[in-house]
Amino acid sequence: MISEWVLYVMFYLLSAVFSAFLAYCLYVHHIHQKYDHIPGPPRDSFLLGHTPTFSRAAKSDNLIQDLFLEWADKYGPVYRLNSFHYIVIEVHCPEATKTMLMSPKYLKDPFVYKRLFNLFGKRFLGTGLVTAADHDVWYRQRRIMDPAFSSTYLRSLMGTFNEMSERLMDHLEEIADTKTPAVMHDLVNCVTLDVICKVAFGVDLNFLKQTDSPFQNAVELCLRGMVLDLRDPFFALFPKNWKTVQQIKDAAELLRKTGEKWIQKRKTAIENGEDVPKDILTQILKTAEEEKVNSAKDHEQMLDNFVTFFIAGQETTANQLSFAIMELGRHPEIYKRAKAEVDEILGTKRDISYEDLGKFTYLSQVLKETLRLYPTAPGTNRWLHEDMVINGLKIPGGCSVAFSSYVSQRMDMYFKDPLKFDPERFDVNAPKPYYCYYPFALGPRTCLGQVFSQVMKHTPHKHNCTSLSPSEFLDIQNMQANVCILLDV
Ligand code: HEM
Repeated sequence: MISEWVLYVMFYLLSAVFSAFLAYCLYVHHIHQKYDHIPGPPRDSFLLGHTPTFSRAAKSDNLIQDLFLEWADKYGPVYRLNSFHYIVIEVHCPEATKTMLMSPKYLKDPFVYKRLFNLFGKRFLGTGLVTAADHDVWYRQRRIMDPAFSSTYLRSLMGTFNEMSERLMDHLEEIADTKTPAVMHDLVNCVTLDVICKVAFGVDLNFLKQTDSPFQNAVELCLRGMVLDLRDPFFALFPKNWKTVQQIKDAAELLRKTGEKWIQKRKTAIENGEDVPKDILTQILKTAEEEKVNSAKDHEQMLDNFVTFFIAGQETTANQLSFAIMELGRHPEIYKRAKAEVDEILGTKRDISYEDLGKFTYLSQVLKETLRLYPTAPGTNRWLHEDMVINGLKIPGGCSVAFSSYVSQRMDMYFKDPLKFDPERFDVNAPKPYYCYYPFALGPRTCLGQVFSQVMKHTPHKHNCTSLSPSEFLDIQNMQANVCILLDV
């Protein structure tokens, strides 16, 4: 009698699972019918869509962005990708880029950004500035952060930027004296981390002099963890990966705990009326106080943003500097011209003023061209909630739209001879790229740290250009290997 009941239950359970699976397959079929008029590469399978191709690309040494570029050449500037019932439309058309990125109406795709809320189960970027998809949640934070990153405020922090680049210079001179090669990518990684710690949080850790710093290792591990988690949602399921996963979770915790400590210390100092550094943290706490932002949820969000600044700001800037140095090393004529400009503007001056930054016309062109070829945060995603016509194709609402700056900045439709490193593209008299160049994203969700990173990028160059020749300190191969891994997110 009992076994009969068990059989009944099993039968109904199996029927329910089978019906649910069938219903899901019908839903996927319906989604295919809805979007299959949009061109795209052939799917690997009905259910998985293009996911196996992504996994294969992720495991190979190739950049996944190069695959997207290849598809843009083959299928045009608008093409479709499938993963189960989820549709991503890759868009590289200036008009649609302008419409969607410039308007607050199109929110970030929650599916993509929610995946960074946690890192293997540990709160990571949470609902901080990069990951907040909800407009109100994002806007409230951005209002508090904006003044701290304004040019007016950053002007007052020039002393620290100069001090940090001076340190890099001293370090490079020490290395040059010993006639050993310097791995520039490692050095700029240390300097950018130092700058963010000092300028943003008033903490001087001097990573250039530290070997094996737990904080620096934690930032690196989290960045690696992000790539692993995003590329392979099943990574944590395999026992062989458990040790790595635990290390990444510990790293995420260390970052948050450090943020907690630094923020609490500053709050107490402000409450006690102590003299506090005039840095970004003080500015943020002051604005938060004025806006009465002090609930437990706000506190968690402040920690989300602490982690966000390091994750969004350090590697992006360090990689750009590394790529710029690499290209300067490869193009002696460009290097010579940039050096002449720096010499002319600075002469014998040691420190760069905020006003000087605007005078480095050619150096800025070099940096812009670097971000064209190597956008260190290579895109953004929006959720399309309503039907839209893009490039003559009707795109039904209910899908994700991906904008890859890497792809659009390398398309010969927009940039002639795209693989050539040519700073002349950004000459004042050259035609301005029209919504096909957006290394810092565009519109309301544009990078908060753009000015910050520009100051950070110009200051070390004064030294590279005045005092050392690239052959003295470049280890291009090593640097290239490092930066390529990081680009391929
Ligand atoms: C070369 C350097 C940098 C590049 C290329 C870059 C690029 C970008 C891009 C493409 C986005 C949009 C991301 C998305 O939509 O998913 C972004 C957002 C952001 N970046 Fe940067 N970034 C750089 C440096 C920095 C620095 C130094 C900081 C801070 C210290 C920073 C903080 C942020 C923040 C907070 C956001 C979110 C803005 C918002 O949605 O309100 N970035 N960045």
